[in-house]
Amino acid sequence: MTVDPIRPRRLRQSAAMRRLVAETRLHPAELVLPVFAGEGLTEPRPIASMPGVVQHSLDSLRATVADAAELGIGGIMLFGVPLDEKKDAVGSAGTDPDGILQVATRAAVAEAGDALVVQTDVCLDEFTDHGHCGVLTADGLVDNDATLERYAEMAVVQAEAGSGLLGLSGMMDHQVAAVRAALDASGHELTPILAYSGKYSGGWYGPFREAVQSSLRGDRRAYQLDTANGREGVREAALDIAEGADIVMVKPASHFLDVLAATSASSPVPTWAYQVSGEYSMIEAAAAHGWIDRERLIPDTLLAIKRAGAEAILTYYALEVARTLRAGV
Ligand code: PBG
Repeated sequence: MTVDPIRPRRLRQSAAMRRLVAETRLHPAELVLPVFAGEGLTEPRPIASMPGVVQHSLDSLRATVADAAELGIGGIMLFGVPLDEKKDAVGSAGTDPDGILQVATRAAVAEAGDALVVQTDVCLDEFTDHGHCGVLTADGLVDNDATLERYAEMAVVQAEAGSGLLGLSGMMDHQVAAVRAALDASGHELTPILAYSGKYSGGWYGPFREAVQSSLRGDRRAYQLDTANGREGVREAALDIAEGADIVMVKPASHFLDVLAATSASSPVPTWAYQVSGEYSMIEAAAAHGWIDRERLIPDTLLAIKRAGAEAILTYYALEVARTLRAGV
């Protein structure tokens, strides 16, 4: 009898061996925590559809930044939630040096020092009264080029507040070029751009819209990508890189691993992924029913995202995972 010497199970027999042969592992330095800063809050405000995630007051923001730094997390991505009465058609609060995002950025940078990278969202949706990511034409359509001017102003104001990486999430054509030019013209040549290149439209961002108290009615299909199209996500990354993106990103993560893998395989710059609010809330909801083992599933999802090629991951689980990694579980 011939014995087949190939037994793949040999390397799965002990925890020590599985760890030794793991192709992919999680590290706190490769995790970025998305953080919401709510204007006028004295206490953190829970977000019902994202159990465990809050809108931060400035004090709780500082404490979270300190925790994140202490745990060795790579960075935080800040989103500002203005008071409702500060929203208007052009998102003025987004370019106000004393707007919530700028105030939160200064507080976070002061707390973080060089321990982690404080990143900011360059997009108008949190600040517009119609909830769209740009300014509108008279017909109610998002006006691409008028929006670019607003993004350019926003980017400079954020760089001035100390942001260490600008996350361009609005999905306007040529947004990277417009922001890059504005930064370079204002002495911020060294402020890098994270382009949300393959950012897909769909049902995944619902809990985030609660988190930022979005005013949006309707959807973003006219500017975010269509789920049916993988190649288009890869193309967007190439365009963004040509316009000067320093990092590209695919979002949502778990259901777009094909786009992520193809983007990362062809990208000469770091490729990240965003495990978005809907991905988080689905895990939390199933876990609350006792239907899944969340402590196993969370690293499963993040490892799959890394395996597909993400070099860093934006995830609401960043602190929890960093704590688990430290405990060596
Ligand atoms: C736009 C932006 C959104 C998210 C990140 N940046 C919302 C949207 O596109 O509707 C969603 C992130 C998430 O769902 O966790 N400012």
